[in-house]
Amino acid sequence: MAFYDLRQFIDKLKETGDVVYINQEVDWNLEAGAIMRRCNETSAPAPFFQRLKSYPQGYRLFGSPMATFRRLAIAMDMEPDTPYQSFLEEFKKRTKNPIKPILVSDGPCKENKLFGEDIDVLKFPVPLIHEGDGGRYIGTWHISATKDLGTEWVNWGMYRLMIHDKNTLGGLMVPTQHIGMILNKYEAMNKPMEIAVAIGTEPVTAIIGTCGVPTGINEMDIIGGFRRAPLEVVRCETVDLVVPATSEIVIEGEVLPNQRKDEGPFGEYTGYQAGGRGPRPVVKVRAITHRNDPILTSSNMGAPIEESDICMNVAWASDIWMQLLNAGFPITGVCIPVESSGTIVVVATKKPYNSIANGIAASVWSTKNGKHIPRVVVVEEDVDPYDLKQVIFALGTKCHPVRGTTVFDNMPHSPLIPFLDMKEKTYFSSANVVYDCTWPLDWDTENVPKLASFKAIYPKEMQERVLLNWKNYGFK
Ligand SMILES: Cc1cc2nc3c(=O)[nH]c(=O)nc-3n(C[C@H](O)[C@H](O)[C@H](O)COP(=O)(O)O)c2cc1C
Repeated sequence: MAFYDLRQFIDKLKETGDVVYINQEVDWNLEAGAIMRRCNETSAPAPFFQRLKSYPQGYRLFGSPMATFRRLAIAMDMEPDTPYQSFLEEFKKRTKNPIKPILVSDGPCKENKLFGEDIDVLKFPVPLIHEGDGGRYIGTWHISATKDLGTEWVNWGMYRLMIHDKNTLGGLMVPTQHIGMILNKYEAMNKPMEIAVAIGTEPVTAIIGTCGVPTGINEMDIIGGFRRAPLEVVRCETVDLVVPATSEIVIEGEVLPNQRKDEGPFGEYTGYQAGGRGPRPVVKVRAITHRNDPILTSSNMGAPIEESDICMNVAWASDIWMQLLNAGFPITGVCIPVESSGTIVVVATKKPYNSIANGIAASVWSTKNGKHIPRVVVVEEDVDPYDLKQVIFALGTKCHPVRGTTVFDNMPHSPLIPFLDMKEKTYFSSANVVYDCTWPLDWDTENVPKLASFKAIYPKEMQERVLLNWKNYGFK
């Protein structure tokens, strides 16, 4: 059953042991961030901070909302111990069945309304998440809604938002992402772009905000499909946009055309503060609405495992899988190892012809999500792409350092990839590489090395005999 709001989701996490209520006072200045980070790195339950230093009772902070596969499963009404592959299947299925939202006239997010002098984003216990961040980030687990110019497309995506002052925010809106594409159109006409930021939504909304839904498709409909129930939305007060009715906090405003202010650095999904500080778009706040006793949500991006290694990972992998099948590749599995922070994708395939690895890689990089992944590892179908041990073994033993490796230079890139130099970050372009871990088809069969593993090198009868007698030999 779909969750009505974030509070119902947290109640469920309490039932399953996936949240810890922290009643001790915690400092928003790094302490909450450090707790979230340690939770992420140990796959601990989500920390739910009840009392933040210098903030009144009731102003709460829910950290690391989706930093485990268990929490993703619970959010999607699946078994908490669902394996990785099943998420890919489920994402594929639910993406195909969108459900439109329902517009309602009122909702809990309207319980308090702030305009003019009353606007202050620091009213909420916004954490300084990592040491060295450029500021306190209020937008790290939310959606930003913006409307395309000239079409009916409304994009809901997750793009970080830093506080400049009580009514000014700044964020990263790169041109390869939907918000950046839309902003380009407004800026070409020197028009402000209206924006609504919904924080503390029912759980699926923020998940889909990270998923890279295709251009022109409204995330709202996909959210309905994932919830298997329509999302209730309400109109904003000062912008022509809608937001989830049960959002904890809604910030309405406009992105000022062609204005930039320094933003960053920030601990990012690739595991580093790699993007640096630089001139980035500015949001002027027009209004804030919020629930009574609001819950701010926050994710601590950085080294694995955090929300991007869970939500973006599964969405990208299932999307790449679908796109490769549509392109006619006989693939048998796709995995983005969580340890790679979204920088490596492993594709398992049948091998009907020699050049298939490069074909697969080129196809991966032609997709919106796949173009963020600089390394493609192609393995044969006998390798389990979800088993890192098997993948590393194939990479080390089957991929020739020259013939098995092809570099594609001057490819579109996320500026957050840590190994890029400054010029590459500025111009969003760098090199990608494909590792072909498949045996060449032009080798004579006798030249293909025989795998010396229990399963591959012994006759079936011998394997069965050994397994049958295993305990008799004295093993457990
Ligand atoms: C916590 C978090 C913060 C993110 N911040 C940004 C960001 O500041 N800028 C960005 O381009 N992508 C960011 N992303 C990734 C986007 O949410 C993701 O690529 C999504 O697909 C963007 O939506 P779009 O495909 O509609 O553009 C973030 C992801 C997460 C999980």
